[in-house]
Amino acid sequence: MEDAGHKSTIRSAAVPAALKRRLYRTVRDLRHPGPALERRRIRDEVARFLGGRDVLRRYEREVRESGLREHLLAKGREHHDAVVATGAGHSLGAIGYTEGVYLYAVVRTARPEAMVETGVANGFSTAFTLLALQANGVGHLHSIDLPREVGRDYEPGTFYEGEGRAGIPPGSEPGWLIPEILKERWTLILGRSQEELPPLLERLGTVDTFMHDSEHSFDCMWFEFNAAWPVLRPGGVLVSDDVNSTEAFARFSVQERRDPVRLARGMALLRK
Ligand SMILES: C[S@@+](CC[C@H](N)C(=O)[O-])C[C@H]1O[C@@H](n2cnc3c(N)ncnc32)[C@H](O)[C@@H]1O
Repeated sequence: MEDAGHKSTIRSAAVPAALKRRLYRTVRDLRHPGPALERRRIRDEVARFLGGRDVLRRYEREVRESGLREHLLAKGREHHDAVVATGAGHSLGAIGYTEGVYLYAVVRTARPEAMVETGVANGFSTAFTLLALQANGVGHLHSIDLPREVGRDYEPGTFYEGEGRAGIPPGSEPGWLIPEILKERWTLILGRSQEELPPLLERLGTVDTFMHDSEHSFDCMWFEFNAAWPVLRPGGVLVSDDVNSTEAFARFSVQERRDPVRLARGMALLRK
């Protein structure tokens, strides 16, 4: 299938802000060389997976030029006012910008036709994935999410207790901050992954990329990895956030005899 290339559809980046960010990062890395070294190692792992630093740089440029960062920053401020500032203890619960760009790069490289993800919340990781699908010009993302809407009462036990309390604004849907233009290649299923994932995978038959970012209990992660792996095509990619929150990801990598590629301290992928 032809590569549709990236369509710059959101907004273009501001140069002074980019310079400010670079200066901030240089000072931070000089002050804290340990984490800086780890970030460099992770970046090298990602670049190796993609096929080189030039490939990674190209994808970074695509995301920068899309304006998604500025869009997400503005929506993040809206979320802060509507959710965090209520003081009810809810968070954005999102992956960071760098992880988002790495996820974008992985999806650009993997070029999935069918991708499944669990855990949408406000829609950060979903926005990066959908941006990549748009640039690929091929593929569809099926997401499952059991949203936690701020201000709503839920039955005790609805959510796993160790969960990070990612909340969406009152009256909103999961993924509310995703630019409308990116939603063409997206289907959202509301519900628990324990109930919704098996019928979805059965319906799709084969999946090219799977991402877990829903309930980070051992049982749920173990269940999702073992449900997705058999329908993942050979060479397909399984991504997981919060890989250090339980033993599930490490144990699963050993079970399938695959070496993880790190995308962040707490985020990694396995290639089937
Ligand atoms: C960490 S957040 C997802 C963050 C998102 N990937 C991002 O980067 O912005 C986890 C989401 O999974 C939802 N969730 C919790 N338990 C779930 C379950 N059992 N099945 C599906 N979704 C669940 C949470 O309510 C929340 O919306």
